[in-house]
Amino acid sequence: MLHEGEKVIDENRQGEAVMAPVPSTGSGRKLLLESYGCQMNFSDSEIVASILTEAGFTTTRDAEEADVVLLNTCAIRDNAEQRVRARLQYLRSLKSKKPDMVVGVLGCMAERLRDQLLEEEKLVDLVVGPDAYRDLPNLIETVDSGQKAVNVLLSREETYAEISPVRLNSNGITAFISIMRGCDNMCSFCVVPFTRGRERSRDPESVVREAQELFDLGYREVTLLGQNVDSYKWNLTSKGEVKEEGKEVVNFAQLLEKVALVNADLRVRFSTSHPKDMTDEVLHTMAKYDNICKYIHLPVQSGSSEVLKKMNRGYTREWYLERIAAIRRIMPDCAISTDVIAGFCGETEEQHQETISLMKEVGYDMAFMFKYSERPRTLAERKYEDDITEEVKGRRLQEIIDVQMQSAAMRTQAFVGKRQRVLIEGVSKRSDEQLFGRNSQNTVVVFPKGNLVPGTYVDVDTHSCTSVTLIGTAVQS
Ligand code: 5AD
Ligand code: SF4
Repeated sequence: MLHEGEKVIDENRQGEAVMAPVPSTGSGRKLLLESYGCQMNFSDSEIVASILTEAGFTTTRDAEEADVVLLNTCAIRDNAEQRVRARLQYLRSLKSKKPDMVVGVLGCMAERLRDQLLEEEKLVDLVVGPDAYRDLPNLIETVDSGQKAVNVLLSREETYAEISPVRLNSNGITAFISIMRGCDNMCSFCVVPFTRGRERSRDPESVVREAQELFDLGYREVTLLGQNVDSYKWNLTSKGEVKEEGKEVVNFAQLLEKVALVNADLRVRFSTSHPKDMTDEVLHTMAKYDNICKYIHLPVQSGSSEVLKKMNRGYTREWYLERIAAIRRIMPDCAISTDVIAGFCGETEEQHQETISLMKEVGYDMAFMFKYSERPRTLAERKYEDDITEEVKGRRLQEIIDVQMQSAAMRTQAFVGKRQRVLIEGVSKRSDEQLFGRNSQNTVVVFPKGNLVPGTYVDVDTHSCTSVTLIGTAVQS
């Protein structure tokens, strides 16, 4: 989820650390939980918080007073890992003064590096992969008894379905709901299938229940999370056959509808869609319900069909553009965002220009743009040479960013003068007298406070904008 004022262009989206304190429930030891990386990691940290709160841990934001420090890490690009390593070095120096402090690595780096962090680098006491969080209390006990502890087993079933996440750093208005785990796609650049394992979908009933509980607590927006939400399936095999006769079959469009029906005042977002799998059925469901936000994150990665083939993305430039046309046909007002990789193995200047031309043609509302970073064990690492120099990657990325900045500014400008339905999220960072929220398309809207309160909807007449923010006045009812 983006936050007010966050840059449209954020090369380090996956690497930003946010301190996530665990609410205290007992008189146990003090835990500091820090999350790095994608939305899924932040959502996982809420599950970890739930498991450890149950086990009696209390919370702190301060590493100096923590008894247990857990870093929930990201391995998607090398710079994300470097940031965690720097933090681990600091924790090691702290630990030399506090030998009883337990330091653990969770998430994708844990899965990728396993024993290396424990043995070769001696940076941590505890290494726990994304499917082993239920084991955390036992593993911490093992460390207490003077041993190192590892559990990086990946599971085909674990979805943490019945664990009620402890909402961390919450504004009490927007929340994530994880609907599936893992990924079966094997894009050649991506480490996720190795770190998060096979794809599995969560019981739709537990998803709907979580949405209802959030609504009852006053939340007004949920984001359904999965690496590839379009391949969500319940009671269906990967070939599309019914697994258990007599049991309900649910695909992503149907799950989306179920969540939308929880309450018309609960906004529903989702991420991430995959261009090869996104169906018209999903688009029609989105169009049918006002409370399903008109925003699709549809990562393209490259505008060149040859590069896409090497990336093993399963679609061509033409297919992708047809999916964009379908979105525009079914929901003309839908915002579209993307992910782009600059300088993938062997990318020629012409192929890079194809990415630029595609971006101009689509006119994205927003994009996350990255330099290609080779990841160990991936198909690309084994098959192709990472032969584009840092300098060329940097130059291509900058060209991509320049196109995107123009397109984002145009998209924001296009809302000016139009009335926007806004879910109010809080007080603007710039002024206590202003509130901010988002329209359905996820654009931030800022307006004078009056007597309005966060967590409610308001219509705002927009009169001007910056490159990514709309400015207006609330329509008094
Ligand atoms: N190098 C650069 N970017 C990557 N991504 C995934 N793997 C890599 C990599 N090895 C980007 C993709 C993906 C987003 C989450 O991160 O654009 O959609
Ligand atoms: Fe990685 Fe591709 Fe799966 Fe996304 S769809 S997580 S890029 S393998």
